[in-house]
Amino acid sequence: MDSFISRDLENYIQNHSSGESEVLQELRKIAREELNMPDMICGPQVARFLQMLIKLGNCRRILEVGSFIGYSAVAMAEAMSEGKLITLELEAKYAAISAPVFSRPEFSSKIEQRMGPAAKSINRLNGKFDLIFIDADKISYPEYYHKTFPLLSDNGLMIFDNMLWRGEVVRPESEEAEVISQLNKTIHNDERVSCLMLPVRDGLMMVMKR
Ligand SMILES: C[S@@+](CC[C@H](N)C(=O)[O-])C[C@H]1O[C@@H](n2cnc3c(N)ncnc32)[C@H](O)[C@@H]1O
Repeated sequence: MDSFISRDLENYIQNHSSGESEVLQELRKIAREELNMPDMICGPQVARFLQMLIKLGNCRRILEVGSFIGYSAVAMAEAMSEGKLITLELEAKYAAISAPVFSRPEFSSKIEQRMGPAAKSINRLNGKFDLIFIDADKISYPEYYHKTFPLLSDNGLMIFDNMLWRGEVVRPESEEAEVISQLNKTIHNDERVSCLMLPVRDGLMMVMKR
């Protein structure tokens, strides 16, 4: 399954949104055709949405938890006028695909990838981030929330992907859906933040400090 909504609607949305750069098209093709994992990347709509937010907020320090083959990292780097994006990944096999892209001249000074379990990499981070995009193992999302919150700048934005878990959050049956559903409640009840859930693709939870 390559889509979270009907194929017709997906095509309609894509046909009425600005297209991806060539490098993003290449990475999406790899995810779909070589790895047979089309749903692992955040996809064109989320990518464009992130790009618009980055430009609007003039984000200069970005943290991504979960690089996969670099699709969203490249999309975000494309939108940064200057600054640094740190992206965290566990699996060397995915980094083998993203590394040659990250080392292209247009991205090499902007994207830094750190390998290993994200929870450990987060412990070693310093400074504040204007945007934190969480898109790794869902079971660890609550841990990523608590660990990265102190790293969010005062006007920064934290975005979690897949927060509708294909709609299963309404009546969770899997462990992932249960964890995500609990986290949605935790964030909603967290008096330190204001939050907004958007039904973009598989659901984005956007979080800002009050
Ligand atoms: C959904 S994919 C990320 C997709 C990417 N953000 C994009 O849109 O192109 C999730 C990634 O998180 C990685 N991951 C899973 N568990 C992890 C962990 N404990 N630490 C770091 N990365 C992890 C997976 O290997 C996978 O590449």
